[in-house]
Amino acid sequence: MADVIEQIDQVQTQAETELAAVKNAAELEQYRIKFLGANGLLKGLMKVLGQVPKDQKPAIGQKVNAVKEKVTGAFEEKKSSLAGAAPSTWTDDVTEPGRVPQIGNTHIIMKVIDELTELFGRMGFTVAAGPEVEDEFHNFVALNIPKSHPARDPLDNFYLEGDGSTLLRTQTSTVQIRVMEKQQPPIRVVIPGRVYRPDTVDDTHLFMFHQLEALVVDKGVTMVDLKSTIMQFVHAYFGKETKVRFRPSFFPFTEPSAEVDVWFEDKQRWIELGGCGMVHPNVLTACKIDPEVYTGWAFGFGIERIAMRKYGINNIRLFIENDVRFLRQF
Ligand code: DAH
Repeated sequence: MADVIEQIDQVQTQAETELAAVKNAAELEQYRIKFLGANGLLKGLMKVLGQVPKDQKPAIGQKVNAVKEKVTGAFEEKKSSLAGAAPSTWTDDVTEPGRVPQIGNTHIIMKVIDELTELFGRMGFTVAAGPEVEDEFHNFVALNIPKSHPARDPLDNFYLEGDGSTLLRTQTSTVQIRVMEKQQPPIRVVIPGRVYRPDTVDDTHLFMFHQLEALVVDKGVTMVDLKSTIMQFVHAYFGKETKVRFRPSFFPFTEPSAEVDVWFEDKQRWIELGGCGMVHPNVLTACKIDPEVYTGWAFGFGIERIAMRKYGINNIRLFIENDVRFLRQF
Protein backbone atom coordinates (compact mmCIF):
# COMPACT_ATOMS: atom_id res chain seq x y z
CA MET A 1 0.00 0.00 0.00
CA ALA A 2 2.70 2.48 1.03
CA ASP A 3 4.55 1.30 -2.06
CA VAL A 4 1.69 2.25 -4.31
CA ILE A 5 1.39 5.71 -2.83
CA GLU A 6 5.09 6.20 -3.18
CA GLN A 7 4.93 5.12 -6.80
CA ILE A 8 2.15 7.63 -7.52
CA ASP A 9 4.10 10.44 -5.85
CA GLN A 10 7.17 9.48 -7.80
CA VAL A 11 5.39 9.68 -11.14
CA GLN A 12 4.04 13.08 -10.18
CA THR A 13 7.46 14.44 -9.22
CA GLN A 14 9.02 13.00 -12.33
CA ALA A 15 6.26 14.53 -14.51
CA GLU A 16 6.80 17.94 -12.95
CA THR A 17 10.58 17.87 -13.29
CA GLU A 18 10.55 16.66 -16.86
CA LEU A 19 7.86 19.15 -17.94
CA ALA A 20 9.95 22.02 -16.57
CA ALA A 21 12.81 20.90 -18.83
CA VAL A 22 10.67 20.82 -22.00
CA LYS A 23 11.83 23.59 -24.38
CA ASN A 24 9.97 23.07 -27.65
CA ALA A 25 7.04 21.38 -29.36
CA ALA A 26 9.02 18.27 -30.30
CA GLU A 27 10.14 17.69 -26.71
CA LEU A 28 6.61 18.33 -25.54
CA GLU A 29 5.32 15.59 -27.82
CA GLN A 30 7.89 13.17 -26.44
CA TYR A 31 6.75 14.16 -22.98
CA ARG A 32 3.11 13.62 -23.88
CA ILE A 33 3.80 10.13 -25.16
CA LYS A 34 5.86 9.24 -22.09
CA PHE A 35 3.38 10.46 -19.49
CA LEU A 36 -0.03 10.86 -21.08
CA GLY A 37 0.11 8.43 -24.00
CA ALA A 38 -1.79 5.15 -24.28
CA ASN A 39 1.17 3.28 -22.79
CA GLY A 40 2.34 6.19 -20.70
CA LEU A 41 3.31 6.29 -17.06
CA LEU A 42 -0.08 7.60 -15.96
CA LYS A 43 -1.85 4.72 -17.67
CA GLY A 44 0.65 2.51 -15.85
CA LEU A 45 -0.62 3.83 -12.52
CA MET A 46 -4.15 2.75 -13.46
CA LYS A 47 -2.79 -0.76 -13.84
CA VAL A 48 -1.18 -0.62 -10.43
CA LEU A 49 -4.61 0.24 -9.08
CA GLY A 50 -5.68 -3.28 -10.03
CA GLN A 51 -3.37 -4.72 -7.36
CA VAL A 52 -4.69 -2.55 -4.52
CA PRO A 53 -7.02 -4.24 -1.99
CA LYS A 54 -10.68 -3.53 -2.67
CA ASP A 55 -11.35 -1.35 0.41
CA GLN A 56 -8.51 1.00 -0.50
CA LYS A 57 -9.36 1.31 -4.15
CA PRO A 58 -11.53 4.48 -3.88
CA ALA A 59 -8.88 6.45 -1.96
CA ILE A 60 -6.01 5.38 -4.22
CA GLY A 61 -8.18 5.86 -7.32
CA GLN A 62 -8.89 9.42 -6.24
CA LYS A 63 -5.23 10.11 -5.77
CA VAL A 64 -4.36 8.75 -9.21
CA ASN A 65 -7.09 10.90 -10.77
CA ALA A 66 -5.87 14.01 -8.98
CA VAL A 67 -2.33 13.44 -10.25
CA LYS A 68 -3.63 12.81 -13.74
CA GLU A 69 -5.60 16.07 -13.71
CA LYS A 70 -2.65 18.03 -12.40
CA VAL A 71 -0.24 16.63 -14.97
CA THR A 72 -2.71 17.14 -17.83
CA GLY A 73 -3.41 20.74 -16.71
CA ALA A 74 0.30 21.57 -16.50
CA PHE A 75 0.82 19.97 -19.92
CA GLU A 76 -1.93 22.12 -21.51
CA GLU A 77 -0.49 25.24 -19.92
CA LYS A 78 2.95 24.45 -21.25
CA LYS A 79 1.47 23.76 -24.67
CA SER A 80 -0.16 27.18 -24.88
CA SER A 81 2.90 28.97 -23.51
CA LEU A 82 5.05 27.28 -26.17
CA ALA A 83 2.53 28.18 -28.88
CA GLY A 84 2.90 31.85 -27.95
CA ALA A 85 6.68 31.78 -27.75
CA ALA A 86 9.25 32.13 -30.49
CA PRO A 87 10.50 28.81 -31.85
CA SER A 88 13.67 27.75 -30.07
CA THR A 89 15.32 26.48 -33.24
CA TRP A 90 15.52 28.83 -36.17
CA THR A 91 15.91 27.34 -39.62
CA ASP A 92 17.65 29.01 -42.52
CA ASP A 93 14.79 28.24 -44.89
CA VAL A 94 13.57 31.73 -45.74
CA THR A 95 10.73 30.32 -47.84
CA GLU A 96 9.10 28.83 -44.74
CA PRO A 97 5.94 30.72 -43.87
CA GLY A 98 6.47 32.99 -40.87
CA ARG A 99 4.28 33.13 -37.82
CA VAL A 100 1.56 35.70 -38.44
CA PRO A 101 1.42 38.11 -35.51
CA GLN A 102 -2.00 38.39 -33.89
CA ILE A 103 -3.22 41.92 -34.36
CA GLY A 104 -6.50 43.47 -33.33
CA ASN A 105 -9.40 44.02 -35.68
CA THR A 106 -12.39 46.32 -35.89
CA HIS A 107 -15.10 45.34 -33.39
CA ILE A 108 -18.12 43.76 -35.06
CA ILE A 109 -20.39 46.60 -33.86
CA MET A 110 -18.12 49.23 -35.41
CA LYS A 111 -18.05 47.19 -38.59
CA VAL A 112 -21.85 47.02 -38.71
CA ILE A 113 -22.04 50.78 -38.07
CA ASP A 114 -19.73 51.34 -41.06
CA GLU A 115 -21.88 49.07 -43.22
CA LEU A 116 -25.07 50.84 -42.15
CA THR A 117 -23.80 54.38 -42.63
CA GLU A 118 -22.40 53.37 -46.00
CA LEU A 119 -25.73 51.85 -47.06
CA PHE A 120 -27.74 54.86 -45.89
CA GLY A 121 -25.11 57.10 -47.45
CA ARG A 122 -26.00 55.58 -50.80
CA MET A 123 -29.65 56.44 -50.02
CA GLY A 124 -28.70 60.10 -49.56
CA PHE A 125 -28.29 60.26 -45.77
CA THR A 126 -25.46 62.10 -44.05
CA VAL A 127 -24.13 61.05 -40.61
CA ALA A 128 -24.57 63.07 -37.40
CA ALA A 129 -23.51 62.53 -33.78
CA GLY A 130 -24.30 63.90 -30.34
CA PRO A 131 -23.15 63.57 -26.71
CA GLU A 132 -23.74 60.47 -24.58
CA VAL A 133 -24.16 62.59 -21.44
CA GLU A 134 -27.36 64.46 -22.13
CA ASP A 135 -29.57 67.03 -20.51
CA GLU A 136 -33.22 66.74 -19.68
CA PHE A 137 -34.21 69.02 -22.56
CA HIS A 138 -32.75 66.85 -25.34
CA ASN A 139 -33.54 63.46 -23.80
CA PHE A 140 -37.11 64.31 -22.77
CA VAL A 141 -38.61 67.80 -23.04
CA ALA A 142 -37.99 68.48 -26.73
CA LEU A 143 -39.04 64.90 -27.52
CA ASN A 144 -42.49 65.63 -26.09
CA ILE A 145 -41.88 63.60 -22.93
CA PRO A 146 -43.36 65.70 -20.10
CA LYS A 147 -42.17 65.69 -16.45
CA SER A 148 -44.89 63.26 -15.34
CA HIS A 149 -44.13 60.68 -18.07
CA PRO A 150 -43.22 57.13 -16.88
CA ALA A 151 -40.20 57.10 -19.26
CA ARG A 152 -38.53 59.45 -16.76
CA ASP A 153 -38.68 56.93 -13.92
CA PRO A 154 -35.32 56.70 -12.10
CA LEU A 155 -35.58 52.92 -12.49
CA ASP A 156 -35.44 53.31 -16.28
CA ASN A 157 -32.64 55.90 -16.52
CA PHE A 158 -29.06 56.37 -15.42
CA TYR A 159 -29.37 59.86 -13.92
CA LEU A 160 -26.12 61.64 -13.13
CA GLU A 161 -27.68 64.31 -10.91
CA GLY A 162 -30.27 63.81 -8.19
CA ASP A 163 -32.50 66.46 -9.74
CA GLY A 164 -32.70 64.58 -13.06
CA SER A 165 -31.06 67.38 -15.03
CA THR A 166 -28.37 65.21 -16.66
CA LEU A 167 -28.28 61.55 -17.57
CA LEU A 168 -26.65 58.99 -19.85
CA ARG A 169 -28.86 59.20 -22.93
CA THR A 170 -31.43 56.42 -23.21
CA GLN A 171 -31.94 56.91 -26.94
CA THR A 172 -30.23 58.43 -29.95
CA SER A 173 -33.47 60.38 -30.63
CA THR A 174 -31.76 63.13 -28.59
CA VAL A 175 -29.58 63.82 -31.62
CA GLN A 176 -32.67 64.44 -33.80
CA ILE A 177 -33.18 67.53 -31.65
CA ARG A 178 -29.54 68.57 -31.85
CA VAL A 179 -29.62 68.29 -35.65
CA MET A 180 -32.88 70.24 -36.01
CA GLU A 181 -31.63 72.98 -33.67
CA LYS A 182 -28.75 73.60 -36.04
CA GLN A 183 -30.27 72.92 -39.41
CA GLN A 184 -33.48 73.83 -41.21
CA PRO A 185 -35.05 71.26 -43.62
CA PRO A 186 -34.42 69.49 -45.90
CA ILE A 187 -32.85 67.10 -43.35
CA ARG A 188 -31.80 63.53 -44.12
CA VAL A 189 -29.46 62.08 -41.45
CA VAL A 190 -28.58 58.85 -39.72
CA ILE A 191 -27.12 58.86 -36.21
CA PRO A 192 -25.30 55.80 -34.89
CA GLY A 193 -24.50 55.91 -31.18
CA ARG A 194 -24.31 54.31 -27.78
CA VAL A 195 -27.25 54.42 -25.37
CA TYR A 196 -27.73 53.34 -21.75
CA ARG A 197 -30.65 51.73 -19.91
CA PRO A 198 -30.78 49.91 -16.57
CA ASP A 199 -32.27 46.80 -18.22
CA THR A 200 -31.81 43.29 -16.92
CA VAL A 201 -29.35 41.47 -19.15
CA ASP A 202 -30.62 38.52 -21.15
CA ASP A 203 -29.84 37.12 -24.59
CA THR A 204 -31.36 40.12 -26.39
CA HIS A 205 -30.93 42.92 -23.80
CA LEU A 206 -27.93 44.86 -22.45
CA PHE A 207 -27.67 47.89 -20.16
CA MET A 208 -25.55 49.62 -22.80
CA PHE A 209 -26.09 49.16 -26.50
CA HIS A 210 -26.10 51.02 -29.81
CA GLN A 211 -28.87 52.52 -31.87
CA LEU A 212 -29.10 53.76 -35.41
CA GLU A 213 -31.39 56.74 -35.56
CA ALA A 214 -32.70 58.19 -38.81
CA LEU A 215 -34.44 61.51 -39.38
CA VAL A 216 -35.97 62.94 -42.54
CA VAL A 217 -37.69 66.32 -42.54
CA ASP A 218 -38.90 68.04 -45.68
CA LYS A 219 -42.02 69.29 -47.42
CA GLY A 220 -44.55 66.58 -48.24
CA VAL A 221 -42.79 63.70 -46.40
CA THR A 222 -45.26 60.88 -45.62
CA MET A 223 -45.55 57.54 -43.84
CA VAL A 224 -45.16 55.87 -47.24
CA ASP A 225 -41.61 57.26 -47.47
CA LEU A 226 -40.88 55.92 -44.00
CA LYS A 227 -42.15 52.44 -44.73
CA SER A 228 -40.53 52.16 -48.13
CA THR A 229 -37.15 53.37 -46.82
CA ILE A 230 -37.21 50.79 -44.02
CA MET A 231 -38.24 48.00 -46.41
CA GLN A 232 -35.50 49.05 -48.81
CA PHE A 233 -32.94 49.01 -46.01
CA VAL A 234 -34.03 45.61 -44.65
CA HIS A 235 -34.02 43.99 -48.08
CA ALA A 236 -30.68 45.52 -49.08
CA TYR A 237 -28.96 44.61 -45.80
CA PHE A 238 -30.50 41.26 -44.83
CA GLY A 239 -31.60 39.96 -48.23
CA LYS A 240 -34.70 40.18 -50.40
CA GLU A 241 -36.59 37.34 -48.70
CA THR A 242 -36.33 38.83 -45.20
CA LYS A 243 -39.68 38.97 -43.44
CA VAL A 244 -40.52 42.33 -41.83
CA ARG A 245 -43.63 43.46 -40.02
CA PHE A 246 -44.86 46.83 -38.75
CA ARG A 247 -46.93 46.91 -35.58
CA PRO A 248 -48.87 50.01 -34.45
CA SER A 249 -47.21 51.45 -31.36
CA PHE A 250 -46.78 54.61 -29.32
CA PHE A 251 -43.91 57.02 -28.83
CA PRO A 252 -44.37 60.55 -27.43
CA PHE A 253 -42.23 62.00 -30.23
CA THR A 254 -44.02 60.39 -33.18
CA GLU A 255 -47.62 60.23 -34.38
CA PRO A 256 -48.53 57.78 -35.79
CA SER A 257 -45.92 55.35 -34.44
CA ALA A 258 -44.96 51.79 -35.26
CA GLU A 259 -42.56 49.10 -34.18
CA VAL A 260 -40.58 47.11 -36.71
CA ASP A 261 -39.92 43.39 -36.25
CA VAL A 262 -37.68 41.13 -38.30
CA TRP A 263 -38.05 37.35 -38.39
CA PHE A 264 -35.09 35.50 -36.84
CA GLU A 265 -34.89 32.14 -38.56
CA ASP A 266 -32.50 30.59 -36.02
CA LYS A 267 -34.61 31.65 -33.05
CA GLN A 268 -37.89 31.02 -34.93
CA ARG A 269 -39.37 34.24 -33.61
CA TRP A 270 -39.93 37.89 -34.40
CA ILE A 271 -37.43 40.24 -32.81
CA GLU A 272 -38.02 43.96 -32.51
CA LEU A 273 -35.52 46.13 -34.37
CA GLY A 274 -36.92 49.34 -32.91
CA GLY A 275 -39.49 52.07 -33.31
CA CYS A 276 -40.44 54.55 -35.98
CA GLY A 277 -43.09 57.08 -36.89
CA MET A 278 -43.98 60.50 -38.21
CA VAL A 279 -42.24 63.24 -36.21
CA HIS A 280 -44.73 64.78 -33.76
CA PRO A 281 -45.61 68.42 -34.56
CA ASN A 282 -44.61 69.37 -30.97
CA VAL A 283 -41.08 68.09 -31.66
CA LEU A 284 -40.77 70.17 -34.83
CA THR A 285 -42.10 73.21 -32.95
CA ALA A 286 -39.59 72.70 -30.09
CA CYS A 287 -36.87 72.92 -32.76
CA LYS A 288 -38.38 75.99 -34.42
CA ILE A 289 -39.45 74.14 -37.54
CA ASP A 290 -42.96 75.00 -38.73
CA PRO A 291 -45.12 71.82 -38.68
CA GLU A 292 -47.61 73.53 -41.01
CA VAL A 293 -44.92 73.62 -43.70
CA TYR A 294 -42.77 70.58 -42.98
CA THR A 295 -43.35 66.94 -42.03
CA GLY A 296 -40.83 64.30 -41.09
CA TRP A 297 -40.28 60.69 -40.16
CA ALA A 298 -37.78 59.00 -37.90
CA PHE A 299 -36.72 55.61 -36.67
CA GLY A 300 -34.41 54.22 -33.99
CA PHE A 301 -33.15 50.64 -34.38
CA GLY A 302 -30.94 48.52 -32.11
CA ILE A 303 -27.59 47.96 -33.82
CA GLU A 304 -26.76 44.83 -31.79
CA ARG A 305 -30.05 43.30 -32.96
CA ILE A 306 -29.20 44.20 -36.55
CA ALA A 307 -25.75 42.61 -36.18
CA MET A 308 -27.29 39.49 -34.61
CA ARG A 309 -29.72 39.06 -37.50
CA LYS A 310 -27.07 39.72 -40.12
CA TYR A 311 -24.31 37.50 -38.70
CA GLY A 312 -26.34 34.78 -36.97
CA ILE A 313 -25.22 35.76 -33.45
CA ASN A 314 -27.65 34.31 -30.93
CA ASN A 315 -26.58 36.03 -27.71
CA ILE A 316 -26.21 39.80 -27.32
CA ARG A 317 -23.78 39.34 -24.37
CA LEU A 318 -21.08 38.22 -26.81
CA PHE A 319 -20.62 41.81 -28.01
CA ILE A 320 -19.28 43.00 -24.66
CA GLU A 321 -17.53 39.93 -23.29
CA ASN A 322 -14.39 40.60 -25.36
CA ASP A 323 -13.72 36.93 -25.99
CA VAL A 324 -11.16 36.96 -28.80
CA ARG A 325 -12.50 33.67 -30.15
CA PHE A 326 -15.72 35.59 -30.93
CA LEU A 327 -14.12 38.89 -31.97
CA ARG A 328 -11.70 37.28 -34.44
CA GLN A 329 -14.54 35.77 -36.44
CA PHE A 330 -15.45 39.13 -37.94
N1 DAH B 1 -36.15 56.18 -29.27
C1 DAH B 1 -36.98 55.01 -29.33
C2 DAH B 1 -36.44 53.99 -28.33
O1 DAH B 1 -35.30 54.04 -28.00
C3 DAH B 1 -36.98 54.41 -30.69
C4 DAH B 1 -37.62 55.30 -31.69
C5 DAH B 1 -38.97 55.25 -31.91
C6 DAH B 1 -36.87 56.20 -32.40
C7 DAH B 1 -39.59 56.05 -32.84
C8 DAH B 1 -37.47 57.03 -33.35
C9 DAH B 1 -38.83 56.92 -33.55
O2 DAH B 1 -36.79 57.89 -34.06
O3 DAH B 1 -39.40 57.74 -34.48
O4 DAH B 1 -37.17 53.12 -27.92
